[in-house]
Amino acid sequence: MNETLAQSDPEFVKKTFAAIAGRYDFANHLLSGGLDFLWRRKLSRLVARRHPVDILDLATGSGDLALAMSKACPTAKVVGADFCLPMLEMARRKRVRHLIQADGLALPFHDESFDVVTMAFGLRNMADWGAAIREAHRVLRGGGALYVMDFSLPDSEFVLKFYRFYLHRILPGIAQWATRRRDAYEYLGKTIETFPSGLVMNALLKSCGFKCEPPRKMAFGAVSIYCGTVD
Ligand SMILES: C[S@@+](CC[C@H](N)C(=O)[O-])C[C@H]1O[C@@H](n2cnc3c(N)ncnc32)[C@H](O)[C@@H]1O
Repeated sequence: MNETLAQSDPEFVKKTFAAIAGRYDFANHLLSGGLDFLWRRKLSRLVARRHPVDILDLATGSGDLALAMSKACPTAKVVGADFCLPMLEMARRKRVRHLIQADGLALPFHDESFDVVTMAFGLRNMADWGAAIREAHRVLRGGGALYVMDFSLPDSEFVLKFYRFYLHRILPGIAQWATRRRDAYEYLGKTIETFPSGLVMNALLKSCGFKCEPPRKMAFGAVSIYCGTVD
């Protein structure tokens, strides 16, 4: 990894995802043991319960969550937005219908345009988490909800020990084989260690104007879904 670049530097993030775009899905499914399908399905079902009309999947990447939500909410319009064109190209090939190149920190949408905004494994990569959450709040209608799904650190010390071993010692090696870009996955481990999780994330959401539901933990707490609602 180029240590001269800050982890959250947007140009570094864009270049990193552009470099792995073609192998991103394969690496995802391999490194999560296929669990990422279940995580996206769970989030899609939570979203469907709200019967949204307009959904924004921010940092949509290769579009798997946008597709899962289109299936779970067949009458909704799901817009996928991402600032990395090669990732959007992967989503386009999978026939995600509404795609737009956009920066999560300055969304090209009017206030109160969506009923639900989702960010799956995206917020962690953004340069300013608070600014991105406030942008999501701005584009949400009253009664709408933001769902953030991302990696978190398991509460149990025992599980955490194994998780860290996998994350920092095993995963970069497998990723090197799968994507030829070990640095991208060393970056992943670093961002997971510093990203707010659990009640710290809820405090951040509250400071940006959301009311929070208790975090939903999956995979022994290695992945969490946070939900913030707008009055
Ligand atoms: C780990 S991928 C997640 C993709 C997808 N949501 C998923 O669940 O597989 C992170 C994505 O966030 C995008 N991203 C990072 N910062 C962004 C920003 N400021 N605005 C828009 N997209 C951003 C990257 O381009 C990348 O496609």
